[in-house]
Amino acid sequence: MYTSRISGLGSYVPENVVTNDDLSKIMDTNDAWIQERTGIKERRHIKKGDGNSTSTMGVKAAKIALERANVSTDDIDLIIFATLSPDMYFPGGGVRVQEMMNMRTIPALDVRNQCSGFVYALSVADQYIKTGMYKNVLVIGSENHSGGLDMSTRGRAVSVIFGDGAGAAVVTRSEEDGKGILSTHLHSEGAHAKELSLEGPSTDHWVPEIIAENPQENIPYYPYMNGQFVFKNAVVRFSEVINEGLQANGLSATDINMLIPHQANLRISQFVQKQFRLSDDQVYNNIQKYGNTTAASIPIALTEAWEQGKVNDGDLVVLAAFGSGFTWGSAIIKW
Ligand code: UT7
Repeated sequence: MYTSRISGLGSYVPENVVTNDDLSKIMDTNDAWIQERTGIKERRHIKKGDGNSTSTMGVKAAKIALERANVSTDDIDLIIFATLSPDMYFPGGGVRVQEMMNMRTIPALDVRNQCSGFVYALSVADQYIKTGMYKNVLVIGSENHSGGLDMSTRGRAVSVIFGDGAGAAVVTRSEEDGKGILSTHLHSEGAHAKELSLEGPSTDHWVPEIIAENPQENIPYYPYMNGQFVFKNAVVRFSEVINEGLQANGLSATDINMLIPHQANLRISQFVQKQFRLSDDQVYNNIQKYGNTTAASIPIALTEAWEQGKVNDGDLVVLAAFGSGFTWGSAIIKW
């Protein structure tokens, strides 16, 4: 049986920094509220004309990951692209990456699992490698939120949280026993689908219907979040799925060297940190700089942690995510 390991990581965020004070100029919000409730100080937003899109950011992150993995585009057997904000309604972002990176006619698979997108995508890559079907899988999480947010006061509870960016990982076949991706653990609970959702445009809400049926104050093509409900579920599911992953491998919280939680809210990460009695240097957070970048948040954070020398050979690295769906998951990795 093969094992799979992350052989290269890369990330990219747009240059345009949007501070909390910048937002307070266009909606009724303020730096103190945003920092206290979320930990966010600033985020990156694509600027019209700066050449960035969900796919192009994904390509930029992917090129760095390939170089660090020391593989060429010819070595990649499959692209898995996780996003909730593809450039087009269809097709998804994977085929755009395939075209932009000139990757022959290799398959491109899109994953629609929002904040859990990267963990789900990693799990798919892991299975293809462990079965022996593929040797190198390029996994990308990328999001362009800024273009689709309600930047008026009406949307403030959601819009201040999300940011743009991309992260990528090359997942590679390995024969080193006991190392690499040990296991992944995935869950969903569709009963809460509407608690964090964007309903239209979709086949439930075609654009002409939206325009005909909805007064301006009730537009279903902006994201909706029942913040407190999501928060309460997040803290429970994060802990459950981390424990599930540890137990599956006969490990405990004291074995964790680095926890990379999806960057949903600094208060959520701190709650989870306390539950597992981890120190500040055992949990990587960068929501302060980027906000919540959904499917991109874990690969951006993992890339930064690795770049800063916080993820080393032999470390136990735990990835954990929760978000819209609801979906959640964890990955237990021996680096
Ligand atoms: O990544 C996917 C998973 N996502 C999450 O896990 C997010 C989970 N939820 C959260 O992080 C938090 O619920 C939020 C950060 C979204 C909101 O924080 P909260 O402490 O739950 O605030 P709230 O929604 O209960 O709102 C409290 C007050 C309200 O005013 P009133 O009704 O008390 O007068 C809001 O209108 O804060 C007001 N408010 C704001 N004020 C200033 C909401 N958004 C803002 C804002 N600036 N941006």
